[in-house]
Amino acid sequence: MILTPSPELSVVVPTFNERENIQELVNRLAETLQAIRWEVIFVDDDSPDGTAALVRSLAQRDPRVRIIHRIGRRGLSTACVEGMLASSAPLLAVMDADLQHDERILPAMLRAVKDDGYDIAVGSRYVAGGSLGEWGEERQFASQFATRLSRLVLKAGVKDPMSGFFLLKREVLEGAVADLSGIGFKIMLDIFASSTKPLRYIEIPYEFRIRQAGESKLDSAAVWDYLMMLLDKSLGRYIPIRFIPFALVGGAGVFVHLLVLWLVYDLGGYGFTTGQTAAAVIAMTFNFFVNNAVTYRDRQLRGWGMLRGWVSFTLACSLGAVANVGIATYAFETQLVGETAWVLSAVAGIIVGAVWNYAVTSVYTWNKVKGV
Ligand code: GDD
Ligand code: MN
Repeated sequence: MILTPSPELSVVVPTFNERENIQELVNRLAETLQAIRWEVIFVDDDSPDGTAALVRSLAQRDPRVRIIHRIGRRGLSTACVEGMLASSAPLLAVMDADLQHDERILPAMLRAVKDDGYDIAVGSRYVAGGSLGEWGEERQFASQFATRLSRLVLKAGVKDPMSGFFLLKREVLEGAVADLSGIGFKIMLDIFASSTKPLRYIEIPYEFRIRQAGESKLDSAAVWDYLMMLLDKSLGRYIPIRFIPFALVGGAGVFVHLLVLWLVYDLGGYGFTTGQTAAAVIAMTFNFFVNNAVTYRDRQLRGWGMLRGWVSFTLACSLGAVANVGIATYAFETQLVGETAWVLSAVAGIIVGAVWNYAVTSVYTWNKVKGV
């Protein structure tokens, strides 16, 4: 029996609506990686433009092309991680599909890791010879600012920690994977920050090209994700990081509640119970939608799932309210938090209610992965 030798390098490429770029990228990889056995693993989040189907049809003709097709999921970082984990090659690269990363430096990255003993080679825009290409000033500034912020979680002095283009040894992934935050766009920074030991790295310059087809997915939500990732890598050891936006949304919900109560009861002249009920339902609905859009953006419920989610969220929060009042009353009556400390009693109730709401809805409202 003749076995086909398996690839030495897997190039993992996350895709979302990149149909127009796939064939060209495969051609370019084939051109530049002639000297070694390689494969490319596209990880597509069910792009509406049919990227996955196109990759699959290429894969039927070319065994070097593979596809991971994810349903009901979004996220650049998790796509990269799952792509890398699906490979058994000793060397792993990650790059974008949109041809902005210059594939011609892959052989140099490969040599650095394979022959020169580096753990990871970083495709870098910020070392001599690299550049941002034709980026507008605004985006250059944003990128540099984000790079500075990354120092909060990054000990290594990498010049381009925001790079989405890198090549590493499989062991490096294995040393970091259990601690990865997986939030958002910045998978390489995540790997550096999660590695158990310092990584020997080298930065290899390239010029960031402009996108030819399709559009960038980096939007304001990506900025939010980035901040969440930094928080996760710093505070995340102590609290689940989603609890922070969840609690902030809850705080905003209190204002919504009071506003509705004021409108219905005070201005509208309805009974207090009517006002309070309307306020509670509207505040919970507000919290549900904002959490669905922001806190759980990566697991966002849509269509009928949203109705089911709203029901479970409202049920959970109603029980949370009962717990809140129960604990507060108990603390108040037994003077658990000191005499006449009605504020502290109320705060104790709020904390227990919030933690309950968070814990229950994170499992029952947002944890169902559709189709998996
Ligand atoms: N599977 C999957 N899921 N892929 C995604 C998703 C997603 O939710 N969002 C984006 N992608 C894919 C895109 O299709 C593309 O191949 C790649 O991830 C990068 O997305 P872009 O939208 O092109 O990002 P960018 O060009 O603004 O930023 C890139 O370059 C920067 C500089 O290296 C990213 O790689 C950044 O992380 C990087 O800092
Ligand atoms: Mn891009």
